[in-house]
Amino acid sequence: MHPTDNAKNPFKRISVSDSPKTENYPPHRIRSFIRRESRITAGQQRALNQLWERFGVDIDFFEFDPDQLFGRRAPLILEIGFGDGESLISMCATNPDMDFLGIEIYRPGVGHLLLRAAEMALSNLRIICLDAVEVLERYLPDECLNGVQLFFPDPWPKLRHRKRRLIQPAFVSLVVRKIKAGGQLHIATDCENYAHAILAILKATAELENTTANNEFSQYPPYRPLTKFEQRGKHLGHSVWELLFIKRPEMPKKGTLF
Ligand SMILES: C[S@@+](CC[C@H](N)C(=O)[O-])C[C@H]1O[C@@H](n2cnc3c(N)ncnc32)[C@H](O)[C@@H]1O
Repeated sequence: MHPTDNAKNPFKRISVSDSPKTENYPPHRIRSFIRRESRITAGQQRALNQLWERFGVDIDFFEFDPDQLFGRRAPLILEIGFGDGESLISMCATNPDMDFLGIEIYRPGVGHLLLRAAEMALSNLRIICLDAVEVLERYLPDECLNGVQLFFPDPWPKLRHRKRRLIQPAFVSLVVRKIKAGGQLHIATDCENYAHAILAILKATAELENTTANNEFSQYPPYRPLTKFEQRGKHLGHSVWELLFIKRPEMPKKGTLF
């Protein structure tokens, strides 16, 4: 029986060949993104049609199985909101011993990434084109990731839009649940007040430990390629704040040692 035949199965069949489905989106949830579907080029649409089968993940499995997805067992890094994906492509190429799963809701960006991934013949990259919150809540099992990276999440600078910011305490708790003990959470932003808000959230998350001795922002790690959004900001003179935290090993609960 196909898992989606089971009425109790919480995962509905979702495919990127449809525009991302959000009609079942919980009405109370504020989205961290807006749709910009009209900007897709003919080449990007062709890539979605022709290359999705090779790199894309349709959520029609009952259980997420990275070993099956990549055909091997390797450390798995999730990148949320990769934009046009150039920095993710570069990380995949320089880290062939690691696997990368990218989630991006913006189809033109996914199309661009698919073209580049095919050009580079990458075998360690898979893509999901859906809202990352939905994927984390409904698809990824707990403690399946060695690292999560979010580079330049939409800053939503206007005060009235801040509720749209992706990085909020509930989202961080959800992300942390998906990371294995000892795994890394890496966030970078060029929006100063967002950076401070994120730092406060991460510091207040008991499962996380800052990698810096002073419990503040990190230095730029040279292994992180610059992203398109970041380069645009740098031309405008923006600074960048890096946050690098590790998920602590689980502490034994009181009274459970013996
Ligand atoms: C400011 S852009 C940065 C893109 C890229 N990381 C870079 O630095 O060039 C943020 C990206 O996050 C994506 N995004 C925002 N909310 C998302 C969500 N809930 N699920 C998936 N992608 C999301 C947007 O579509 C956008 O491409």
